[in-house]
Order: sequence, then C-alpha cells, then structure tokens
Amino acid sequence: MKGIVFTEFFEMIEQQNGLDEVDALVDGCELSTDGAYTSVGTYDFRELVVLVQKLGERSGIPVPILIKAFGEHLFGRFHQKFPEFFDGVEDAPTFLAGIEDTIHTAVRKLYPDAELPSFDVKVMECGGVDLTYSSPRPFADFAEGLIEGCLKHFGESRTVRRDEADGADGTSCRFVIS
Ligand code: HEM
Repeated sequence: MKGIVFTEFFEMIEQQNGLDEVDALVDGCELSTDGAYTSVGTYDFRELVVLVQKLGERSGIPVPILIKAFGEHLFGRFHQKFPEFFDGVEDAPTFLAGIEDTIHTAVRKLYPDAELPSFDVKVMECGGVDLTYSSPRPFADFAEGLIEGCLKHFGESRTVRRDEADGADGTSCRFVIS
C-alpha cells in the first residue's frame, strides 16, 4: 500500500485527536517501519489493518466504522491533492463511473507500484452507478467510505446500497449508488 494512505491516516488522527494519539497508536503496534512512512514508499497493507485495529481498541469505535470514516475523509484530501482528476466532472455518478478507466488508471501512472482494487462499473438508466469492488485486500469498508466521501463532495443525497453476495471477508462487494 502506498505511503500516502498511511501519512493521510496519521494526519487525520493528528487533526482529530492530536499528535500524542498518533504516537500512542504507533507505540502500541508492531510495525516494520516504527510508524515512519513516506508518501511515495510502499508498505504492507496489513500494517494499516493493525493500526486501525489498535485505534479501534483505544477508541472503542468498531473497526468498520473507523475504516469507512477514513475513506470518507481521504476522498476530501484526494480532491485537494489531485484537483486535476475533478476537471469537468459535474456529479458523483460521473466521477464514480470513471473510477477504473480514468481515476485509478491515472493513479497507476503516478504510482506504478500502487496496489489498486478493480471495479466493475455499470451506469444505470436512472442515472445511478452499480460498482462491484474486488481486491486481494479486504477494503470494502474503505471503498464504501470513499464512495460516501464522493457523494458528500458533490453535495448529493443519493444512497449507497451494499450487497456482500460473495461473502463478508471484505475483498469483494457490490455497491448500488442511486
Ligand atoms: C481522486 C480520487 C482517488 C484517488 C486519487 C485514488 C487513489 C488511490 C490510491 C493512491 C490508492 C492506494 C494504492 C496503494 O495502496 O498502492 C487507492 C486505493 C484504493 N482506492 Fe482509490 N482513489 C480515488 C478514488 C477512489 C474511489 C472513489 C474509490 C471507491 C469507489 C476508491 C477505492 C479504493 C480502494 C478500495 C483502495 C484500497 C486498495 C484495495 O482495496 O485493494 N478510490 N486509491
């Protein structure tokens, strides 16, 4: 997983709970890096899982809620960091419909070693989008948070229906945004 995900995670916690919480979190986890990540480096995604689990223990907030909240927050940061990806995009369904062929394709050019999920995308007649996430990594909750962040960014009141037909291990999931 790219270091930008880790650095943004720490920045979110620092913003919400202060730097001491970031230090306490890192001290409580066994990490190959001792918590020192650079945004362009690449690290084992399981270190993010360990960090979120520890944050869950410390805060008493369930891990899926924490991961979703991080996804939602990260979408806003992506908007700040990569404004060019939003050029000419007027609404959330248009943005989400381009996740595979436009957005993550551009991300792959910026970070050739990025470990990205795949999305099967269908634009619905009602104007919504049907997205099926799949990945070797269990980040369906993260995907849901990013989708919610996208809806919030475009100020839309669409709903996200989640359908875990292929089991609940978080590596695949269908989202119907309508
Ligand atoms: C401007 C918008 C976006 C940018 C710049 C972006 C970029 C990235 C980057 C840099 C990563 C980390 C890759 C790695 O760890 O090696 C990532 C992962 C991921 N992205 Fe995006 N992304 C964007 C929007 C979205 C949206 C809207 C979704 C959901 C529909 C999404 C779903 C995911 C998921 C679930 C992962 C975790 C990796 C996995 O599940 O295997 N992203 N993205």
